[in-house]
Amino acid sequence: MCGIAGCTGMSDAGKFLLNALKRLEYRGYDSAGMTLTGDGFRTIKVAGKVADLEAKYLSDPYLSLTGIAHTRWATHGVPSENNAHPHLCCNGRISIVHNGILNNYLSLKDRLEKAGHHFLSETDSEVIPHLIESLYDGDPIRSVSQAVEQLSGSFAIAVIFKDHPDQIICARKGSPLVIGLCTGCTLAASDVLPIVPYTKKVIYLQDGELASLTPGRAQIFQIKSLKEVSAVIEDIGVDESSIQKGAYEHFMLKEIMEQPEAFLNVMEGRVDADGEQVVFSELLHYAREMTSFSRIIITGCGSSLHAGLIGKYFLEEIALIPVSVEQSSEFQCRNPIVEPGTLVIAISQSGETADTLAAVREAKAKRAFVLAVCNCENSSMARAADAVSYLHAGPEQSVASTKAYTCQVLFLLLFAISLGRSRHLSIDRERELVQTIKKLPLFCKEMLAAVPQIRELAGKYSYARDFFYIGRGYLYPTALEGALKLKEISYIHAEGYHAAELKHGPIALLDASTPVIALIGKGVGQEKTIGTIQECLARHAPVVALASETSGEKLSPGIDRIIIPECSPLLNSVITAVALQLFAYYFAKEKGCSIDQPRNLAKSVTVE
Ligand code: M6R
Repeated sequence: MCGIAGCTGMSDAGKFLLNALKRLEYRGYDSAGMTLTGDGFRTIKVAGKVADLEAKYLSDPYLSLTGIAHTRWATHGVPSENNAHPHLCCNGRISIVHNGILNNYLSLKDRLEKAGHHFLSETDSEVIPHLIESLYDGDPIRSVSQAVEQLSGSFAIAVIFKDHPDQIICARKGSPLVIGLCTGCTLAASDVLPIVPYTKKVIYLQDGELASLTPGRAQIFQIKSLKEVSAVIEDIGVDESSIQKGAYEHFMLKEIMEQPEAFLNVMEGRVDADGEQVVFSELLHYAREMTSFSRIIITGCGSSLHAGLIGKYFLEEIALIPVSVEQSSEFQCRNPIVEPGTLVIAISQSGETADTLAAVREAKAKRAFVLAVCNCENSSMARAADAVSYLHAGPEQSVASTKAYTCQVLFLLLFAISLGRSRHLSIDRERELVQTIKKLPLFCKEMLAAVPQIRELAGKYSYARDFFYIGRGYLYPTALEGALKLKEISYIHAEGYHAAELKHGPIALLDASTPVIALIGKGVGQEKTIGTIQECLARHAPVVALASETSGEKLSPGIDRIIIPECSPLLNSVITAVALQLFAYYFAKEKGCSIDQPRNLAKSVTVE
């Protein structure tokens, strides 16, 4: 989604802002722009990529110490130069960038137009500079606070005034903004990535706060009262090397390959040194809440929702607790029953997904205890929930979730064991489960070694325009996730189905041009899925089976296969997901797609 960057006191603001926007590209965007201060304002925009903005800037550079910049993910109005940020007020003396959505922009626009303001774009954001202009009396802090008090919706903004060329005013409600503190200069950005190379010291602006940034200084105020608050200065917990692509062509491949290590990080501190017990030390403080509920609702979107679906199976099987899984936006669209004694687990890689954040607020309003499971630290969700557990999967920059997804599944497996142990699970069973889980990184490495075989199959099927993914049990949500991976990065139609559902309708679509990716597990569902494969073959659909050597023994010869390591059914969904990630990656690569930044998608979806 939109990305904001700002700096004041930087020796070359233009260069900083362009680099900052490059680091925010992973969020997803369609146009970009920046305003630099100096003798006046210099604003440049493009309906395109940051590289286009850079080329435009370099054709006529402008030395400046202060500026604001933006990458826009279109909501109100098409991607165009006019709609790109920054937006300026009528007299051109105030420039703003905005991340979020304003619900009341039409009424504000109407009022401002009647007062003589002239709008140039179709965006909701453009009301902001005009509103500030209408209130400005020479005091930037007061006029911005009065303006944002009138905004309803979500926003993070950065504003600069021609009259105050060294000052940036930022404000936040609902959309993230981080301030970086360096000697002699001050930075602002939507997340820490643009800030990491310059400083480790940051302030996470809180909802309802406004910041005045001048070179080397940040003052934080309450928007409402303009009372100054003493902000907490925190250390960024991310190092520069972890956010570089290194030798990999794409972040997605890097993140797929990082999974064995990411699993160790999820387990670190949660599986005791002897490898026998699971302890969630971050939740010890909530021991009463963690043992007193009788029901769990898991909520999330996209891949996080799929992880939640597998989590339900783990929790019901291992901890014997009834679990329902609710797509986050349904929390508001319908009225799910949230009784006292319900634990709501909100899963989100970014911790900024608007739908999930709204579900967290709704669940809290219904008095549920809400546990957020996030990968990004200091996110809005982490603050909104009653308790937070971090995955520690490391930064994920490719839009398609890979390591965060599998780490969410692993997290939920460990969590199920810990809840089970506090109820009925025997110490021996816990030990047995932990010993099984500890093998996950090794199985994952084994799976990753199958790259040549998977790449070849991806090439073989690259002609296909439609795919079906089928599975049963743990492998049903895995089928949904595999199909999501393929469609988001290769723009190929892919549907995930429960294997048993295929015959209830979708089988009508099968023919020789529609490959079926069949996920074969162990146990009850195995023979049935092999039966479903026969039904697909009878309709001439090509089948690629993902199965271990033993699970695949009964498959007809001639079916293409990806061999899954011989692991416990509990780990099978994770390992199979890794194989499907690789398949999607090489398929998209074969088609020459923009793998890390697929069209129309954003890394964290901050609009509902
Ligand atoms: O940051 P979140 O986990 O809350 O994001 C939820 C979805 O937007 C996300 O998983 C999305 O589906 C990914 N692009 C999947 O690869």
